[in-house]
Amino acid sequence: MVSRVIPVDPFDLVIFGGTGDLARRKILPGLYRRFWAGQMPEGARIIGASRKELSEKQFRSFIREAIAEFGIEGVDDKAKIDAFLKQIHYVAVDAKGEAGWDDLRKLMRGDVVRAFYFSVAPSLFGDIAERLNKNKITDKHSRIVVEKPFGHDLESARALNRTLARFFNEAQIYRIDHYLGKETVQNLMAVRFGNILFEPLWNAQYVDHIQITVAETVGVGGRGAYYDHSGAMRDMVQNHMMQLLCLIAMEPPYCFEPDAVRDEKLKVIRALDPVPAGDIVRGQYGKAKGIDSYLSDSEHPESITESFIAMKLHVSNWRWKGTPFYLRTGKRLKGRSSEIAVVFKDPPHSIFGERDGRRGNVLVIRLQPNEGMNLRVTIKEPGPGGMRLIEVPLDMSFADALGPAAAQVADAYERLIMDVIRGNQTLFMRGDEVEAAWAWTDPLIAGWTSRGDHPLTYEPGSSGPEEALMLLHREGRRWRDIEQ
Ligand code: BG6
Repeated sequence: MVSRVIPVDPFDLVIFGGTGDLARRKILPGLYRRFWAGQMPEGARIIGASRKELSEKQFRSFIREAIAEFGIEGVDDKAKIDAFLKQIHYVAVDAKGEAGWDDLRKLMRGDVVRAFYFSVAPSLFGDIAERLNKNKITDKHSRIVVEKPFGHDLESARALNRTLARFFNEAQIYRIDHYLGKETVQNLMAVRFGNILFEPLWNAQYVDHIQITVAETVGVGGRGAYYDHSGAMRDMVQNHMMQLLCLIAMEPPYCFEPDAVRDEKLKVIRALDPVPAGDIVRGQYGKAKGIDSYLSDSEHPESITESFIAMKLHVSNWRWKGTPFYLRTGKRLKGRSSEIAVVFKDPPHSIFGERDGRRGNVLVIRLQPNEGMNLRVTIKEPGPGGMRLIEVPLDMSFADALGPAAAQVADAYERLIMDVIRGNQTLFMRGDEVEAAWAWTDPLIAGWTSRGDHPLTYEPGSSGPEEALMLLHREGRRWRDIEQ
């Protein structure tokens, strides 16, 4: 197989929050994996920045430990790790004060791409942007990467956009949504727009409904303070699930360029109908043997924040009028399984008689685990005895189809960081997209808040509240089982 990897220019990547949890779990091990895979150019440097007074040696040990804990199997190569660590630097800076900025400026080189990853609380974005600018550490070619949550509602997202716009233009701002960096999520676009097979059927005439499930087994323990302030709607739906929905529902962009793709995604968000209260089910996990309840994990015994949400949406445009999209996501569910299922309509007439029942084809795009795709088709059951139909999956697992290449598939973060260095914004959210997503989300949250709705309690290890199943059952449809 020929692999075409777009080369990356030498760069200085500064990670604010370099000693934080995201840097430790995702960003730094991910960068090492790119180095290990030979995709880090000569002369690339990674500069950790945080409030902590650390020596370079201490920061390198911190990274060595992070790689041991979060690097993937097969990349644990001492010589490579040593070589990687030579490219690491550290500077202590005070995001709200003056300390350290001069040191950072002196460290930067003039002739390479400069990127600044804001892996810090959003309340510090403005301070850091301002100091970068004031200390002349950035110029018009520099890029900044900002983490979610991008605002808490429309107003705060707008304020954040305005603040960043004081120092950077839109082409320099990379708003990260790591779901867009997942291999299968990009494959969704390849499947839709790289094949003739699916696109003619990709509309309300042929698609009965679409299900998007992001199920997790973990609870919110350890990050309850953040989560309780967000809930599943803000934490997952407004961003990750909205992005998945956009890629499924959007019109073909005229080319695979950042604004062409983002224009189409924006149109989908704008075409979303408001969701009536009866089409939303919110849940909160209860207690089970050996498992703490949401109320105890969040350390907020009175909390009415949802750890699960399911809803039925309509995209009001020519392509999708009449095809519902069902979304569900939650913590402490029975499996960690994320997938998109496109459920096609039955053939218009069954020449085999009605007894064969429903025969809708289903295209399942599995995001995790076991990334791949599966198309359910109807065939004749083998053997004599008449025409009996059965459904079988045409299954493509990336691991099977691509062999060792699949193991080298980059994690979402490392891929996205390399895109920042390449200057490719296709897989990043534009400011107006984020605002449109909040504009749709805010009234739904305001609705249940003003009604004082309490989430329904569901059992840990289940598929969420029964009422979520009813969202589909009442219309003669079924959720696909959450795989364990
Ligand atoms: C994060 C959310 O953005 O995505 C978490 O804040 C969630 O609550 C996580 O667990 C899920 O990401 P992934 O890649 O594990 O599906």
